Amino acid sequence: GVGALGVEVNVDYIAAYATDLAGRVLADRRVGFDALGRDPGRSIDKLAQVIGRTVADIGRLGVALAGITVAVPGLVDTSTGTVVVAPNLGWRLVPLADRLRCAAIAPDVPITVDNDANLAALAEYRCGVALGTANLIYLTGEVGVGCGIISGGRLLNGADGFAGEVGHIRVDPAGERCGCGRIGCWETKVGLAALVRMAAPDHAYGVGPPVVRDPEERLAEMEQQRAAGDPRVDAAITEVGRWLGVGAATLVNLFNPRVIVLGGYFAQLADRIIPVAQTELDQLSMRDAADRCRLTASDLGFGAASRGAAHVVIERVLSDPTTI
Ligand code: BGC
Ligand code: NA
Ligand code: ZN
Repeated sequence: GVGALGVEVNVDYIAAYATDLAGRVLADRRVGFDALGRDPGRSIDKLAQVIGRTVADIGRLGVALAGITVAVPGLVDTSTGTVVVAPNLGWRLVPLADRLRCAAIAPDVPITVDNDANLAALAEYRCGVALGTANLIYLTGEVGVGCGIISGGRLLNGADGFAGEVGHIRVDPAGERCGCGRIGCWETKVGLAALVRMAAPDHAYGVGPPVVRDPEERLAEMEQQRAAGDPRVDAAITEVGRWLGVGAATLVNLFNPRVIVLGGYFAQLADRIIPVAQTELDQLSMRDAADRCRLTASDLGFGAASRGAAHVVIERVLSDPTTI
């Protein structure tokens, strides 16, 4: 058979998801990772290692790999596979596709690179909770906050594929410094690092020696802290929910989506975050547009971007079988 591999490199994990053309899952793994404070070279080595292992697994199944797409948390020049900037990875002008080709993990297999949230939006559209909804917005809660906008059944790219960078819209001039270097970006209010910082200052990202931990472990740790009676956890979740509603209101006014799918950690905490965000959204948006839009949790967890990435490969193969 023929297979497709989607890989996501994020700030605190690398995920790999592979499927064959019939939708059989060939690989599905996520490993904790610590991009903060690493130089891009070492991060790429780690990424290449995870890809190499997954490619080997797929090979053992006797499946021929038709392509690899890598999702990254930043702006990507998709024509060359260069990461223009990934604020929270500290990458600028990293020719990722070329580097991975040089690592020779999968000779002759085409490698493409794209924005994580854009790919995740495609996954939601094709196989997620918003399946077939032509006007949807995907918002991911990672360390950074990303957005993929599907309007009229098409992903909104903008001139360079950089559209949807809502995480770096300033919402608080007196706020915290963002991974992009500026002050008060939306992701400093609603990103996972912001949540952890508010709930558990001692466990904040980038504080102390590097700690390799998966986002779900961070969340589990917070639940323990909450169970132990620390009121900061609920307060932080409420605060995040409120700011999420503020941003969602802007998106509703701009794009008139039918659904806003919340992914990443937003989905893990959906029961507590969505009601707060909804109240804020109702108050701040054009209410008639908000009334026609639903906030809903993704069921793809932290795997949405890697799934979308695999999907992109499959679509290419199906539309042009000569590329196999
Ligand atoms: C980046 C986006 C990315 C998001 C989620 C942001 O910091 O600028 O490109 O989609 O994080 O990873
Ligand atoms: Na995006
Ligand atoms: Zn920023």
